[in-house]
Amino acid sequence: MKTVGIGMLGAGIVGGSLIRRLVEEHAAIEAKTGLDLELRRVAVRDLEKARSFEIDSALITADPAAVVDDPDVRLVVEVMGGLEPAGEMVLRALRAGKPVVTANKALLAERGPELFAAAEEAGVPLLFEAAVGGGIPIIRPLSETLAGEQIERVIGIVNGTTNFILSRMAEDGATYADALAEAQSLGYAEADPAADVGGGDAAAKAAILASLAFGTWAGIENVFHEGIEKISKADMKWASELGYTIKLLAIAERLDGGVSVRVYPAMLPKAHPLATIRGATNAVFIEGPSIEELLFAGPGAGGEPTATAMLGDVIDAAREILAGAEVAPRIRFSPGELVAFESVDTKWYVRLEVDDQPGVLAQVAGAFGAHDVSIKSVLQEGRGEDATLMIVTHLAPEASQREARRAIEGIENVRSVASVVRVESPDV
Ligand SMILES: NC(=O)c1ccc[n+]([C@@H]2O[C@H](COP(=O)([O-])OP(=O)(O)OC[C@H]3O[C@@H](n4cnc5c(N)ncnc54)[C@H](OP(=O)(O)O)[C@@H]3O)[C@@H](O)[C@H]2O)c1
Repeated sequence: MKTVGIGMLGAGIVGGSLIRRLVEEHAAIEAKTGLDLELRRVAVRDLEKARSFEIDSALITADPAAVVDDPDVRLVVEVMGGLEPAGEMVLRALRAGKPVVTANKALLAERGPELFAAAEEAGVPLLFEAAVGGGIPIIRPLSETLAGEQIERVIGIVNGTTNFILSRMAEDGATYADALAEAQSLGYAEADPAADVGGGDAAAKAAILASLAFGTWAGIENVFHEGIEKISKADMKWASELGYTIKLLAIAERLDGGVSVRVYPAMLPKAHPLATIRGATNAVFIEGPSIEELLFAGPGAGGEPTATAMLGDVIDAAREILAGAEVAPRIRFSPGELVAFESVDTKWYVRLEVDDQPGVLAQVAGAFGAHDVSIKSVLQEGRGEDATLMIVTHLAPEASQREARRAIEGIENVRSVASVVRVESPDV
């Protein structure tokens, strides 16, 4: 009998779905894979809450180490989240020669090299299909199927909460505050939505995607990130009039000097495939010389889709345990250069509140020009006190754009720089 004992660290949204699937679909999985995946131990904090699971209560413990150390547990699933004790437990399992399946992007983005080195040393897999894009198969395609492609760029919509909020603002004219409140009431956004709306969650995922696409480890500390909190209805309206929609993008790209990884809300042409990704859906768009363009899209979160991705990893790791072979790492990271965001060429949309005095536009254009930023288009709305200028620049280093902005803020008749949104479009 091809039995593999499984230990679970955590039984919440994802872990609960996975437990149910392991129990209820046990026979179906066995029929399809020949594997007898046996749930051996489950760690939670609140033992009372865990009684609702239809499993023998003797399997449930409040001690994660008891799961990892159980001799009948041959494979550990980490779905407790957070950095500790998750990190310590993942290392403990790997060092004991037990494969680990995790959905913990925060942990991987923070301590990836150390964890992957421990897995390699032990000759066991550390699998994380669910860590980016929930139910979308993207980790395995990037690290295995596309291992031979010289990937140029990966652009992702990897946070469902922010995509839901931006979609409501773009399609229904909702304000940021109303759309956020709706996302919270529907359970898409956490009570404290800071990691989602501030771009931190997307930055952890961007670091993972970049590392897989380019084979150079991009730690979370190297990912510039900006959130969607400042996006207003006015920006959405102007984006639409200019032919764009606004999305929170995780961008990883190979540039001349190395790899750039960054996250920010950006204007994207309405014709771009990612512009059509609505609501809480996630998507990852990959560009390479041979595959040209690939789009992966689907549910980026939720217990059931995420559990499917994790079950795939569990089946994969169980097969390797039974094959008994030492596992070669699916991807190796080598040192490489990371490009500081300030030197990456970006294109800006800038909305300025100005006094409609003769010469203001010339002064603004002069400030951009003095920092070698050329202007692609200018729109003006209103007259007198309430005039608004919408400017889209051509590509220029991010540092130059920021210096131009500082200079513009010093112009007397510019009342405020109301908004800056970067523009991602192929034209320069
Ligand atoms: N939710 C999603 O849609 C989704 C999608 C993709 C990836 N992920 C990732 O999956 C992981 C789990 O997310 P989740 O939404 O399932 O979280 P969750 O609902 O908060 O569940 C966490 C589970 O871990 C247990 N736990 C936490 N700390 C523990 C400790 N020190 N000792 C023992 N048990 C502990 C909790 O037990 P108690 O309930 O008893 O406190 C709970 O069962 C995270 O890394 C997350 O980023 C989630």
